[in-house]
Amino acid sequence: MKKVKAGLFTATVLGLAMTLTTAYAAEYKASIKEGPLKIVNLNDLESQVKANMDKGAFGYIRGGAEDEKNMRDNTASFDRKYIMPRVMQGIELKDINITTSFLGIPLDTPVIQAPMAAQGLAHRDGEIATAKGMAKAGSIFTLSTYGNKTIEEVAAVSDGHPFFFQLYMSKNDAFNEFTLKRAKESGAKAIILTVDSPVGGWREDDLRNNFQFPLGFANLELFAKQNNDGAKTGKGAGISEIYAQAKQAFTPSDIQYVKKMSGLPVIVKGIQSPEDADRVIEAGADAIWVSNHGGRQLDSGPASFDVLPAIAKTVNKRVPVVFDSGVRRGSHVFKALASGADIVAVGRPVLYGLNLGGAQGVNSVIQQLNKELRINMMLGGAKDINAVKQTRLYTDSDLQ
Ligand code: LAC
Repeated sequence: MKKVKAGLFTATVLGLAMTLTTAYAAEYKASIKEGPLKIVNLNDLESQVKANMDKGAFGYIRGGAEDEKNMRDNTASFDRKYIMPRVMQGIELKDINITTSFLGIPLDTPVIQAPMAAQGLAHRDGEIATAKGMAKAGSIFTLSTYGNKTIEEVAAVSDGHPFFFQLYMSKNDAFNEFTLKRAKESGAKAIILTVDSPVGGWREDDLRNNFQFPLGFANLELFAKQNNDGAKTGKGAGISEIYAQAKQAFTPSDIQYVKKMSGLPVIVKGIQSPEDADRVIEAGADAIWVSNHGGRQLDSGPASFDVLPAIAKTVNKRVPVVFDSGVRRGSHVFKALASGADIVAVGRPVLYGLNLGGAQGVNSVIQQLNKELRINMMLGGAKDINAVKQTRLYTDSDLQ
C-alpha cells in the first residue's frame, strides 16, 4: 500500500513537473511592446528589460561566461584608447556622413546587428521585428541558425533590405546543406560562419535558472519536419543540448564547404588572434568577424577591442573586418573603426530595444549609436567614415 502511495506521489510530482514545463513553453509571454524609445544611454535599457522579461530569458540574453570578466572587459577596453579632440575643422554637424558599404552593400550606418539566437524571448515578433527595425535603420539584419523564425519568414519581411544568415554548422551535413541552400534561395547576401562555439561557455545564470528554451528554433523544426530527424529543435532544451548537435571539430576546409553549398560570401565569425585571421583568409574567407561572442564563451580571453589592431594589421585589407563585443556607445563604434574594423556589430542592446519597442525599438537603438557617433566625429574632427578609419587613437603612453 505504502509503495503504491509513494509511486502515485512520484508520478504526480513528475506529472506536475512535466505539465509545468509544457505550460511554461506554451504560455511563454514575450513582450508585445511597440514604439520608438527615448534613449539617453544604451546602458539604461538593461534594467528596464529586466522588469519586462521572464527571469530565465533575461539571464540567457544578458549573461556571459563564468565570472563575466571578459564581458565587462569588452566594454571597459574602449576606455584604454582616446580620441584626440580636433578643433576648427570647418565642419558642420549636418555635413557629418556616416554612410558606408560592406561587401558591396550600401549602408546608412556602419552599425549592423550581431546574430543572436531565440529572439522570440525578447518579443513576440522576434526576428521579424528585428529584421524590420534593421531595415528601417538602413542596415543589415543577421538571422541566427537558432532563430525562432525561418529564413523564409525573415526574407518575406526584408523587402529587398539586406540580410545575412548565421550558420552554426551541424554534425549533420544534410542540415547544413538544407539551410545553406534555403539561405541562398531566400536572398541572403552572405553566410556568417560562427567558429567560436564548439561548446557553450559556462553560463551560470542559465544553470541557476535551469533555463530551457520555451520556443522552438524554426529552422531546426523545419528540417526535422521535412526529414524526420529526431534532433533537438530547441523547445524545452537547455543551451548545452543545443550546442551538443553543433559541429565541434572545425577546420579551415569547412569554409570551402560553406562557400560551395551556399554560393555566397562567407564571413568567419569568432576570430580573436592574428594567426587564426591569417588561416581563415588563406582558406578562402571573404571577410572575418572579430568577436568573443559578447563574453559568452571563453571568460579568460582578452577583450575583443584589445585584439583588433593586431588582427587588422595581419589582415592588411585582404578582406573586410567586422567587429563586435562590448559596443555600447557611438565612441566605441568610432574607436573600433579607427582600429581597423570596416563595420561594427551590436548585440544585446538590439534585443533590449526589441523587448522594449519591437521594430521601432530596434531602430531607436541603432539611431542612438548613430547620434553619439556623429557627435564623436564632429568633436574628433572626422567628417566621414573614411576619415574615422584614418584617425589615430592615443593611449596613456602616447600622452606621457
Ligand atoms: C549563444 C549562442 C546560441 O551565445 O549564440 O547563446
